[in-house]
Amino acid sequence: MGLPQLEDLPDPSGKRVLLRADFNVPIQDGSIEDDLRIRAALPTITWLQDHGAQVTACSHLGRPKGKPDPEYSMDPVRARLAELASGVELMENLRFDPGEESNNAVFVDRLVEGQDLYVDDAFGAAHRAHASIVGPPSRLPSAAGRLLAREVEVLGSLLDKPRKPFVTVLGGAKVSDKLGVIDALLQRVDRLVLGGGMCFTFLAAQGHSVGDSLLEEDKVDDCRRLLEEAADELVLPTDVVALGPSDEVRTLGTDIPDGWKGLDIGPGSAAEFSDEVTGAGTVLWNGPMGMFEDDRFAAGTRALAHAMADSPGFTVVGGGDSASAVRRFGVADQIDWVSTGGGASLQFLEHGDLPGLEALRKAPNAPAD
Ligand code: 3PG
Ligand code: MG
Repeated sequence: MGLPQLEDLPDPSGKRVLLRADFNVPIQDGSIEDDLRIRAALPTITWLQDHGAQVTACSHLGRPKGKPDPEYSMDPVRARLAELASGVELMENLRFDPGEESNNAVFVDRLVEGQDLYVDDAFGAAHRAHASIVGPPSRLPSAAGRLLAREVEVLGSLLDKPRKPFVTVLGGAKVSDKLGVIDALLQRVDRLVLGGGMCFTFLAAQGHSVGDSLLEEDKVDDCRRLLEEAADELVLPTDVVALGPSDEVRTLGTDIPDGWKGLDIGPGSAAEFSDEVTGAGTVLWNGPMGMFEDDRFAAGTRALAHAMADSPGFTVVGGGDSASAVRRFGVADQIDWVSTGGGASLQFLEHGDLPGLEALRKAPNAPAD
């Protein structure tokens, strides 16, 4: 079955629609730091309202532990949503009820009560088999919202027919989160460029000393296997920027002495990585190259953001941190697609499908294909 689109719904005029969105936005001291995920749901909301539907939206926010917690109240989101779209109701944080994460059938019943149709636009949460995501499609005529559909189309094109060379750049702190997707991507990419905290476990697997840098010792063997299997594809830093005793910052090679902690790729690596990106037909970037919140360790991520902007290739950025990096460095408009999903985009690339998509394809109104 295909993914049902908004057009596959029965006439929404005068109907009540439950809209699952991913309004899990960063909030600091009660104010929203980045409203991308709210704005990204507007095309779907507008379509539904233009077709005469009454929209009730729902989302999770943060990770409250199955009970109400004022820190994770939807109030700031509700206020912002009201500024962007009028007449949309927003339920309280779904994760205030333990039934959301356990996919409890009674909780699903409560969610769909009084609703006629269900629309899922929560791409960022489509990798979670939670009640509001996988439950309603078996109860109500259902559809993918515009954002979800476009995310699947763009990320699907990376799996199906990427223009070559296909380069992926991965960063971020932990290699353990990304081993599965690295294995899967190595079947498809021409180059897999690795930076960020995770690169030190690879450097250790090559026999380098990493000093006080992030290291996942129990993953060194996995990294060594990948280096052996994919010697031609994997690209690692050749220099790093490190923080040493008494806060000294230095560019070092790939052997890092004790007392020093690598926190960014070095200028040589930044130039090499940028060349890979500007020479690509397709580029996917997930995860910063260093601790870019601190100016002393921002150069690698900044260089990569600019290379993404300059690349003639089809450029895709996924993951909250790299998405905020392209905005911070002022190049978001020059990226072809900035995904609203981090974990979801990587899991889609790893498995080619997600629980939220499977559920929609089983909806009673899903098109046969
Ligand atoms: C995200 O921000 O990654 C999604 O909203 C999913 O949130 P979660 O990782 O807490 O399930
Ligand atoms: Mg381009």
